[in-house]
Formats: sequence, C-alpha cells, structure tokens
Amino acid sequence: MKDFTVGVVGSGTMGAGIAQVVATAGQKVWVLDSNPIALEKAKQNLKLVLEKLIEKGKISNEVGSAIEGRIHWTGAIADFKDCNLVIEAIVENIEVKRGLFKQLESIVSKDCLLASNTSSLSITGIAGGCLHPERVIGLHFFNPAPLMPLVEIIAGVNTSTELVYKSQQLVESWGKVGVLAKDSPGFIVNRVARPFYGEALRIAEEGIASFATIDWAMRELGKFKMGPFELMDLIGNDINYTVTETVWQQLYFDTRYKPSLIQKRMVEAGRLGRKSGKGYYDYAEGSVKELPITDMKLGQEVFNRILCMLMNEAIENLYLQTASAVDLDLAVTKGVNYPKGLLLWADEIGLEKVLAQMEQLFAHYGEDRYRPSVLLKRKVALQEKIYSA
Ligand code: NAI
Repeated sequence: MKDFTVGVVGSGTMGAGIAQVVATAGQKVWVLDSNPIALEKAKQNLKLVLEKLIEKGKISNEVGSAIEGRIHWTGAIADFKDCNLVIEAIVENIEVKRGLFKQLESIVSKDCLLASNTSSLSITGIAGGCLHPERVIGLHFFNPAPLMPLVEIIAGVNTSTELVYKSQQLVESWGKVGVLAKDSPGFIVNRVARPFYGEALRIAEEGIASFATIDWAMRELGKFKMGPFELMDLIGNDINYTVTETVWQQLYFDTRYKPSLIQKRMVEAGRLGRKSGKGYYDYAEGSVKELPITDMKLGQEVFNRILCMLMNEAIENLYLQTASAVDLDLAVTKGVNYPKGLLLWADEIGLEKVLAQMEQLFAHYGEDRYRPSVLLKRKVALQEKIYSA
C-alpha cells in the first residue's frame, strides 16, 4: 500500500500522532488543520520527535528525513482530493464532525474511505449526514498513537463489510493491532476499563482504603503498571470524568457506570492531575507522596473487588457482542497495558470464584451496579470456561 495517500484532519494530539504512524509505514500523508498556529506547532513538534528518535538511534537520519518528507501540511481541504483515506481527528462534537464529513464527500473521489478517530461519538451518527455512509468507519487510535499498538475498528450500521476488511489490512500495514468493536458507547476499552477507575473511586469514597493504598494493591497484587489514581492523574481527571459521564449517559444511566463525586470535585477544584500539578497526588517539586498501608488482607480485598468488576464487565460485553473474546482481551492488553486479558484471567481464576465475589457484592450492597453478567452465570451453571477448548 505504498502509493496509498492518507489525509488527516486535525493536527492536535491524535492527528499529529496518526500522521506520524502512517508516514512511518511509508504512506504519503496530508495533514489539515483549521488553525494555522496548531498546524505549525504540530509540524515543529514532529521535527523534534524525529530528531529525538534519531538521537536515540531508533531510526537513521535518512529514515527520519523520509518520514518528514512524506507529510504535507495544509490549510486547504482541496488538497485532499487524491486521498485514498481520510482520518478525522478534530474536536469531539457530532455536529462539527458531520459537517466535515459532508464537506469531505464533495472533495474526495467516490472510492475514498472516510474514518473518524472519535472516542465517544457514534460512528453511525457521524455517517448519518453522508451521502455514502457505507464508506465511513471508526478507526480509534490510543494516545500516544505512535506508541500504543491498539486501533479499534468500528463499523457503523451502514458501513460496508468490505471496508471493515480493508481497514484491518490498513491497520496491520501501519504496524498496529486492530480489533473489531461494535458501534456502542465507549467501544471496547473506554467501556470495559471503566470499573478500574469507578470501583477504585467507590472504595475510596467508602473509606475502605486511601488512593495510595488502592494504587499499591493494583500494582503489587495485580501487576498493573499503574494504579487507578496514578493513571487518572496521568490521563487528566477532566478527560477521564468526561469519558465516564458520556458512557453512563449513552447507556441510559446504567448505575454500573455512574461517575464519582470525588472525581467531579477534583475537576471543579482544578486538580486535573499531572498537567495541573495536583490531582489525587501532589506533583510539586519536593512534595512527599503519601505512603500506602501495605496490609495484604486489605490489599487483596481491594484488588479482588476491582478485578472482579473488570472481569464481569468484560464478560457482559462479550454477552452483548461488543467484540469477540480474543478482541476484548487484546483491547485491554494493547490499549491500556493490562497485564493479562480479562477473560483469560477470569478463566484462570475460575469463573465460579468471579461469580461468587459478584454475588457477595450484589447481596451486600443491593445495588444493580453489582449485578453479575448473565453470561457469567450461564457459564458457571454449565461448568464452562469463556475460552472453551
Ligand atoms: P486536540 O484538541 O488536541 O486537536 C484537535 C485539532 O483539530 C486542533 O488542532 C483543532 O485546531 C483542529 N480542528 C478543530 N476543528 C477543526 C475543523 N473543523 N477542521 C480542521 N481542524 C479542526 O484533540 P485530540 O485530543 O487530538 O482529539 C481529536 C479527536 O480524537 C477527538 O475526536 C477525540 O475524542 C479523539 N481521541 C482523543 C484521544 C486523546 O487521548 N486525546 C484518544 C483517542 C481519540
């Protein structure tokens, strides 16, 4: 696919990263931004990124220049006329995105594929304003795009099957791992990973354990690279809160996804995390990080509760056909660096143990939030595993 030309709309965090990925794979890229300052910033930033990669010996001088030479920066959408694929990575607003897709259809050829990098809007909704919705698909990259291997491929109601196959080939040609996700709120990762944050916040809210203790438990006992509060501070509490709120609203206020007031107050207080210098932790120079209570019994209780909620969510999403078992597991290992796929992990622990923990939480709290997945109950009753031999 060397003579394949890709257009990227939006030169922000995601657009610039996607352009780098595509150009590194040898394809020509046009990058468009309506803000010339953002475009120039992205161009200069890419130069620095490539210089650093050369300095570290990750790529040669020649490769660096070739990547830079393949990317063309523009303020004129007409330059997209010969693109084979356009990936949109602009502001997360359905009306603006629909307007852009309509405009793109009047410029590109009839064979040009159109993709959105949206993380929370419906692909069917974005394609809804198009003359040819069958050529519209979701290609959801993860931040930072050059480093994170996962791309969720989302077919809308009208997306052609041919485009799904083509997208899988393209994603592979960029050296990424593609998973197929249903056009449902949060797709895979932003939905299945919700309990990692939500249950941790709930445990903290109940005063069972502190932020530092919960983080310690997930790192130490679960082998997660970061604990939930460290990760929320890295992502930004504003962004993390918005994703949770959006998924909750779009799933008709299912209490399983209910946002936390602790996080809302953090956002209101401007304690967004690392980027604002303070979140659940203080990032000012010289500040002392609170120590966890390294009590194994407490740690195990915290870890089991969060892990079971994650597994129950993954199983429920398998039941609701958000994705296949293999893709659900790939999504969390390649998109959020979990140490293991949640479904495989649940099989290893034993589904009956996961169910027993969920039933215990459900009985204790009497809240719908803790209802065990129908598929989990079914599998246990039939004495089956998720991955049956
Ligand atoms: P950003 O704010 O960093 O960049 C957006 C860019 O689009 C800006 O440079 C802006 O000037 C430009 N823009 C806005 N409207 C435009 C238009 N009509 N035409 C041309 N350019 C326009 O945003 P970011 O974070 O890169 O997000 C972009 C998209 O990717 C959103 O849909 C977001 O939900 C999604 N996404 C974001 C992730 C993240 O971690 N930041 C991860 C995965 C997806």
